[in-house]
Amino acid sequence: MMSPLDGRLIVNDWAEATGHSVDELVKIYDGLHEKIGADAWLSGRATGEEFADAVDRPYQATGTAARPISIANPDAGEFAVIVDKDGRLRWDKSDIEGAHLVVLTGSDVDDAYLAGLTQAGVSYIVSEKDGVDLKNSLDVLGTEFGVKRLMLEGGARTNGHFLNAGLVDEVSLVIFPAIGGKSNTPAIFEGGEDGLAGGARLTFISAEAAGLGSVHLRYRVERP
Ligand SMILES: NC(=O)c1ccc[n+]([C@@H]2O[C@H](COP(=O)([O-])OP(=O)(O)OC[C@H]3O[C@@H](n4cnc5c(N)ncnc54)[C@H](OP(=O)(O)O)[C@@H]3O)[C@@H](O)[C@H]2O)c1
Repeated sequence: MMSPLDGRLIVNDWAEATGHSVDELVKIYDGLHEKIGADAWLSGRATGEEFADAVDRPYQATGTAARPISIANPDAGEFAVIVDKDGRLRWDKSDIEGAHLVVLTGSDVDDAYLAGLTQAGVSYIVSEKDGVDLKNSLDVLGTEFGVKRLMLEGGARTNGHFLNAGLVDEVSLVIFPAIGGKSNTPAIFEGGEDGLAGGARLTFISAEAAGLGSVHLRYRVERP
């Protein structure tokens, strides 16, 4: 994740304060992503919208669909994983910037949606419980897709869900020299009314200068 000193989430709200473009900041972030060497990244539905071909535009596909798992590209070495419980995002491509797409859905999605994903060459995992079973989905990504290291890449609510579920083992954050300060906007972790303070203890791993005045912080996460 990347944030200004005040931890705000929405990059467009604070990038200007750095004197650099969003693209320049993202380039620093992407360089660190490469260095960490994850073979998968995961985002929530709202962040996924920024990459999707459409929202709430159903596929017209027919036929039955495999459940609970469909692996469209067994040779993929890098994965872009999107949590989309109700199947609201439409994908007409099978990758995001070269990373093979895997959609995590709830059990209620219809066969037309899954058949549409299959026609687009997208893989998916359908949860068997209510909502999206994050723990089981991570297990399946490891065992069936061969994912070894997954970077959780927001947004705030998805980060909160994973932290609450005890599924985050490290926080990696690039802090840029900026103050966003926009009232009533989310921080990089959001945990609703209950917050997240009870869910994790952080142990310092490292702090390194990362370019354009930023600092890359890493903390190990343990359950209290
Ligand atoms: N600063 C950064 O580094 C950074 C990184 C990434 C994203 N962002 C920004 O973050 C913003 C979006 O963040 P956000 O917090 O609003 O949304 P988000 O986390 O991207 O997506 C939230 C949605 O994901 C789905 N979801 C997540 N966890 C789930 C679970 N356990 N079970 C079922 N569904 C789950 C839900 O979709 P449904 O509502 O469909 O159920 C939920 O509403 C964007 O503006 C993006 O640009 C910033």
